[in-house]
Amino acid sequence: MSMRVLVTGGAGYIGSVAAHMMAGAGNQILVIRDSSKGHRRAVGDLDLEVLDIEDAAALRESCLRFKPEACLHFAARSLVGESRREPESYFRTNVEGTANLLGALAAAGCRRLVFSSTAAVYGEPARVPILETDPRDPINPYGSTKLAVEKMLEEMSRASDLRYASLRYFNAAGADVDAGLGEDHDPETHLIPKVIEAALGREPQAVIFGTDYPTPDGTCIRDYIHVKDLARAHVLALEHIDEEGGAFNLGNGQGFSVRQVIDAVKKVSGREFEVVERPRREGDPGILT
Ligand code: UFG
Repeated sequence: MSMRVLVTGGAGYIGSVAAHMMAGAGNQILVIRDSSKGHRRAVGDLDLEVLDIEDAAALRESCLRFKPEACLHFAARSLVGESRREPESYFRTNVEGTANLLGALAAAGCRRLVFSSTAAVYGEPARVPILETDPRDPINPYGSTKLAVEKMLEEMSRASDLRYASLRYFNAAGADVDAGLGEDHDPETHLIPKVIEAALGREPQAVIFGTDYPTPDGTCIRDYIHVKDLARAHVLALEHIDEEGGAFNLGNGQGFSVRQVIDAVKKVSGREFEVVERPRREGDPGILT
C-alpha cells in the first residue's frame, strides 16, 4: 500500500523514525516540523514544511496542497513536569493544535489519522498490566491533553467518516542506528539518556526521583519499548485502519525500575558513576506497564 502521508512532528524522536520507515515502505511523506523543536537533520531528504500546528490557516493550506491520504500525528509537547508548570501552553499545542489539524485534514478530504497518545492517559493505574479498556484518569496536564484528543477523535469518528488509531505509547527507548536517528532532546529529561550521559561523564551523576514508591525497590517502574517497534506499529495501524481502529497500548508488557535501568547502564558500559536520590518528581505514577 502506497499513500501520501503527512507526518506532524516528523523531526522529533519517534516521529522521525516512523517517517523514514513509512518512506522506506514506499509511501510519499511530507514532514511538518514546528519552528522550535525537533531536528532538521532528522528529516534527511524527506519533504519538509516548517509550521506550527497552532497556525490553523498555514496547516490548512499545507494539507490542501499535499492532499494527504493519511496522517501520523506526533507533534505535541510531551514532558510531564513541564506540563505541570505550563498547562495552558500544553492545551494550546496538544488540543487546539490537533483540532486545527483535524479541520485541515477534513478540508483536504483526508480521513485516516494515527494519533500519538500515551500511557499517561491512565494516570495512577487501577491495575497492571493496564488494558486498553481500563479507566482513563490522568494525573498531570500532559495526560489530560492527550485524553482530550482521544475523546475528540472518538466523537469525530462517530460524527464523520474519520478513521483513527490512538496509539498509547509507554516509554520509548533506543535508536534506529542504521538510519542515524535517536533520542536527542534539549533539555534532556528522560531516564535512559540521562543515565547514559552520567556513564559518559557528561552529567556529574545519575538522579533517582523518588525511592518511596510502592514497588519492590521503591523506585518507579516503567515499560520501555524500542522506538523501531513503535514506528512499526504505525505502519501496521495504517495498513488496518480502514477495517479496525480505536485505542492500542504499545509496550513490551514488562516493567523495569529506575534502579534496574541504572544497574543495566553500569553493566553494559562497564563504568561506575555517582547515583543520588532525590524526592519524587511531581506527576509521576509509580508503575506503568
Ligand atoms: N527518572 C529518574 N531520574 C531521571 C529521569 C527520570 O528517576 O533523571 C524517573 C522518573 O521519575 C520516572 C522514570 O524515571 O519515574 C521515567 O521517566 P522519563 O522522564 O524517562 O519518562 P516518563 O515516564 O516520565 O514519561 C515518558 C514520556 C511521556 C509518556 C510516558 C508514558 O516522556 O510522554 O513516558 O509512560 F507519557
